[in-house]
Amino acid sequence: MSTALYDSVIADFYDASPLVASRLQDVNFYLAAARNFGSPILELGCGTGRISAPLAQAGHPVTGLDISEKMLQRAEQKRASLPAEQRAHLRLVQGDMTSFDLQDYFPLIIAPFRPFQHLLNIREQLSCLACARRHLEAGGRLILDFFQTDAARMHDPDFLKEHTIADYEIAGDRRVRLTERTTAFHRATQCNDVEMAFTVTGPGGEQSRNVFAFTIRYFFRYEVEHLLARAGFRVLELFGDFDGSPLRDDSPEMIFVATAS
Ligand SMILES: C[S@@+](CC[C@H](N)C(=O)[O-])C[C@H]1O[C@@H](n2cnc3c(N)ncnc32)[C@H](O)[C@@H]1O
Repeated sequence: MSTALYDSVIADFYDASPLVASRLQDVNFYLAAARNFGSPILELGCGTGRISAPLAQAGHPVTGLDISEKMLQRAEQKRASLPAEQRAHLRLVQGDMTSFDLQDYFPLIIAPFRPFQHLLNIREQLSCLACARRHLEAGGRLILDFFQTDAARMHDPDFLKEHTIADYEIAGDRRVRLTERTTAFHRATQCNDVEMAFTVTGPGGEQSRNVFAFTIRYFFRYEVEHLLARAGFRVLELFGDFDGSPLRDDSPEMIFVATAS
């Protein structure tokens, strides 16, 4: 990925976005995983600490690794607001999930809300899995989540049209209209270029348009299974949503729970 894709407008809009704020089910899922598989936990692509902070609050030592300084600053603000004991549980590290060496082992490594889908090519993906495997304790678990690919999103021209996905209020009596459009399909490389625009209207009617442009990789179920196998992992469970339901045709997510083979 390009260095610090998230060192951009997205860091300012991330936590308040309804797409993020409404994702409470995954927080509970990762809290349950921490209870089942133990800690310390390594979160790859921890962003603003949306998952790492609640894990630390629940008493689990967590290392959150992210490449983006701006996202980590947000996480640090959350860390600073925790009581001392919980604060001590959360370590934040700036680093690249495709090449890191923390000199530590973890019974649980997670990558919540699809950071792996920012790894656009197989070299980066295998590099990330190799690093994760080197940091996984014997018998430990690696959990990766993806959206389940909807093939229409890889070619249907409807997705090229800008459409509103949320309209909400933020601090300072401002309204945000969040719109999204795919700007290019790259079916041969299983990637889409996407633009998310946060259009902010202030109390006096003044407007600003803040665009987060990124490329996202589309994965398929068996592709991930093969990748994991190639990197020395065995899939133990595959869920289609954070309620623990199995992967079905209409499942929104693909959540792989793997161990070293
Ligand atoms: C959608 S956010 C997810 C953040 C957090 N896990 C959550 O659940 O809210 C993706 C995060 O992955 C990070 N990321 C992307 N590529 C990365 C890389 N190569 N190494 C480390 N972090 C990366 C981004 O900086 C961003 O913070």
